[in-house]
Amino acid sequence: MRIGDRRRLRSDPLEYVEDLRRRSATKVIRLPGGGWCLGDPALARVLLRGQEFNEGRSGFFGDLLPTRAVQVEVGHAVRDVLRARLPDYRAALAPAVGGLPPVTRWPAAGNRLVYRCLADLLLHPGTPARTRRWADRAADAGVVFRASRMWQRARAEVPRARLIAALTEQVQQRRRQHRADEPRDVLDAVLDACPDHLADRTVATVHLMMFRAITAPVAASLAWSVLLACLHHTTDSPWPWPTDQIVREALRHRPIPWMLRRTIPCPTTFAGTSLRPGDRVSVSPHLLHHDRHRWTDPDTYRPERWAESDGHGPYLPFGAGPFACPGASVAQTMVTETLTALAEGAHLTVTRGDTRAAMSEGIVPRPFILHRTRTE
Ligand code: HEM
Repeated sequence: MRIGDRRRLRSDPLEYVEDLRRRSATKVIRLPGGGWCLGDPALARVLLRGQEFNEGRSGFFGDLLPTRAVQVEVGHAVRDVLRARLPDYRAALAPAVGGLPPVTRWPAAGNRLVYRCLADLLLHPGTPARTRRWADRAADAGVVFRASRMWQRARAEVPRARLIAALTEQVQQRRRQHRADEPRDVLDAVLDACPDHLADRTVATVHLMMFRAITAPVAASLAWSVLLACLHHTTDSPWPWPTDQIVREALRHRPIPWMLRRTIPCPTTFAGTSLRPGDRVSVSPHLLHHDRHRWTDPDTYRPERWAESDGHGPYLPFGAGPFACPGASVAQTMVTETLTALAEGAHLTVTRGDTRAAMSEGIVPRPFILHRTRTE
């Protein structure tokens, strides 16, 4: 990618991809970094749902897990334990929100809030304190929430390695113990779903991968929901929208995944563009969520659209097809409940808010300040 492209991508990734679409003569957009992006909902559907593009293992777990069946089992087992432990997440919300100072810096404060409520679900309270301390450090030190600067990412390698080592010991111990009842946390769920021959360290790495896959997008979706709702409603009255509409609209207006990518397995033609095996083709949820032909007024953040029966286009904040996110529903519940807890008995306003996105592993908000004033 040329320096100019890189700079524009960093400065405003969403404007950058919209500009590529405007300048593209076809529905198959050439990406300067290599690969292609499908700007058309019908083509996107073929890519994400077509069997030929979604066969075998998904790219999400890389080579960590041996088969597609194990990948699916891990995703479902983790989703099930989170769903079963939602009451504990809820119980953790009140003290975590209550402990927030009136003025907080986001998205960092939202990251800490979400992690605090999830900590006992990721590693149950009976886990050795040393392991839980390394998990806390990982959440603070750029291991879970990707740091923006290269030197910060390099520094995160130490706590990452320490956490993996501590988790590996935990996996060894838990494998030696007999446990008859339900999984107590995400690590138990991962252990139950992984085959016995999988190395302890690999299981630990899968746990860390799930730790990040849950915590980072839930926290980013919460931050977008807070920012967008506050910027679009500035009077002293409570928000006029139900919380679930605020969250759904935030996931539409600023979906977290940047590109959903597939590798072409055999010669394929999309809208006249010939692609070869090995070519990388993506779908941009942002472009599809802002398609003027399919959505009414797509560039406006308007939670009330979710109470209307028409004017909705393709909606894929959690992907679509065989590799779609298994945690979609539980994630949406967590974001909605966290936002409800934040807004309860309080008036929220934002300063230094900027709706342009920053690029991390997904689309995350730029820093802003949240003022939370108690009303009761
Ligand atoms: C707001 C929060 C979340 C967002 C926005 C999100 C989004 C996504 C997206 C877009 C994909 C991939 C799709 C693709 O390549 O087509 C994905 C995959 C995945 N997500 Fe989520 N996710 C969230 C939370 C969660 C949670 C809570 C879990 C816990 C179960 C989870 C587990 C996974 C797994 C295991 C996959 C890989 C699926 C596979 O390849 O079989 N995610 N997620």
